[in-house]
Amino acid sequence: MKQARIITDKYYITGTVDKRIYGSFLEHLGRAVYEGIYQPEHSQADEQGFRKDTLALVKELQVPVVRYPGGNFVSGYFWEDGVGPKENRPVKPELAWHVLESNAFGLNEFADWSKKAGSDIMMAVNLGTRGMEDARNILEYCNFKKGTYYSDLRRQHGYENPHNIKLWCLGNEMDGPWQMGHKTAAEYGRLANETAHIMKELDPSIELVACGSSSANMPTFGSWEAEVLDETYDMVDYLSLHMYFENSENNTPEFLAKNRIMDDFISTVISICDYVKGKKHSKKQIHLSFDEWNVWYHSKESDQKLERWTTAPHQLEDIYNFEDALLVGSLLITLLKHCDRVKIACLAQLVNVIAPIMTSDTGAWRQTIYYPFLHASTLGRGTVLTTLVESPVYATRDCGDAPYLDAVMLQNEDEETLTLFAVNKDLAEDMEVTCDLRQFAGYTVQKHLVLTHDDMKAVNTEEHPDNVAPHEGGQSVMEDGILHAVLGKHSWNVIQMKKYHTFN
Ligand code: AHR
Repeated sequence: MKQARIITDKYYITGTVDKRIYGSFLEHLGRAVYEGIYQPEHSQADEQGFRKDTLALVKELQVPVVRYPGGNFVSGYFWEDGVGPKENRPVKPELAWHVLESNAFGLNEFADWSKKAGSDIMMAVNLGTRGMEDARNILEYCNFKKGTYYSDLRRQHGYENPHNIKLWCLGNEMDGPWQMGHKTAAEYGRLANETAHIMKELDPSIELVACGSSSANMPTFGSWEAEVLDETYDMVDYLSLHMYFENSENNTPEFLAKNRIMDDFISTVISICDYVKGKKHSKKQIHLSFDEWNVWYHSKESDQKLERWTTAPHQLEDIYNFEDALLVGSLLITLLKHCDRVKIACLAQLVNVIAPIMTSDTGAWRQTIYYPFLHASTLGRGTVLTTLVESPVYATRDCGDAPYLDAVMLQNEDEETLTLFAVNKDLAEDMEVTCDLRQFAGYTVQKHLVLTHDDMKAVNTEEHPDNVAPHEGGQSVMEDGILHAVLGKHSWNVIQMKKYHTFN
């Protein structure tokens, strides 16, 4: 059995977790909206046509914020098409994903759905085919109280109270040649700055996210961030990062090491933000919004064969296997380890489209990746303790020497808990892990959840929804203030410790 050590110090804190790090994303794409969250003719539909089975799973995940309506979709979107009486809403060709958009669901429905889901909204504006004027108008429609053209239009549409949306994305992936209205960094930077300017004139309480690179592989990565921030630094609050991971070569050890690419991406973007800060002699710090991240590759081949101009096709429907869940666990650990700068992150996406939740006409179920996200979102609140890992490593082609163990420790002072998230990437051996927690007197192991499976390619289906599911009963114990845990080979682990009190 391999041995590893985790080192923490109660005074050495990385940061407080912003709950929005457990955000997600819903795009008008495939069956995410239609048939995913909205299906009026479904037996599970509520009075507004929202699927109750999907809502229950979203609520279980405790998603604090959902990005909407895209994605590539937003760069060609006329939000006005999706508000007002449904019988007047136009059907349009949607050019990002080559489908027909009925507009039966729009921003007011999304606001209602978000309330039911217990999530806030992260709204993106179209800086592709549209621009400043459109951004100003949608903000007025959503946030202005009354007595103006767009606020009164909202009231006519049955929404007396403003939606008060606080978080806005200035476009989507504007560095990508696939994006409608793709721009150079200079063009986008100027537009984003001017748009931010008028949006904050209208509502100074909002927070804005500028587009960073669509991935670290983009040829413009690095210079894009620097140029965009040069233009927008004083006006925006966050810079976005997007990254998707794949195992198309079917090389599991290489795949499981890929959170190191995310880690490097985040560190580099932080350096660029701080370079611009220094250059501008600014006191302000830009934070990061990792607003698209996930595994995405299973569906790419079949998506090539989809017929164009259909409605709600089965698009980007990755069926996630067990090894995907392990990487998602490591990606969550990586985000948490950067919680001092990553304040928002969105698992892309939420339902049906590269998603933890799947639906059919007969039910809704949890994919494998649902579980690490569920555990992190529900148990990973509080402060992140700087977590050093001493672990054996293995050599990879793209990620250097990768430790077999990924781990992060959190403390929740209100609940008097310590929570360790840990992934053992070793495909052959269990691992014995110790962590000296004598500084935290009186803690004892309360539960040790494990997600593992003999078959790395095991999936959950509607017929077998619990094929890959966590169980309690991992081996861990606290002895004289030292945590001793055995992490099974290829496993995701959640070890929760709680302070016990003795009453005399
Ligand atoms: O999440 C799927 C797509 O990935 C989004 O529309 C786009 O922003 C990214 O390229």
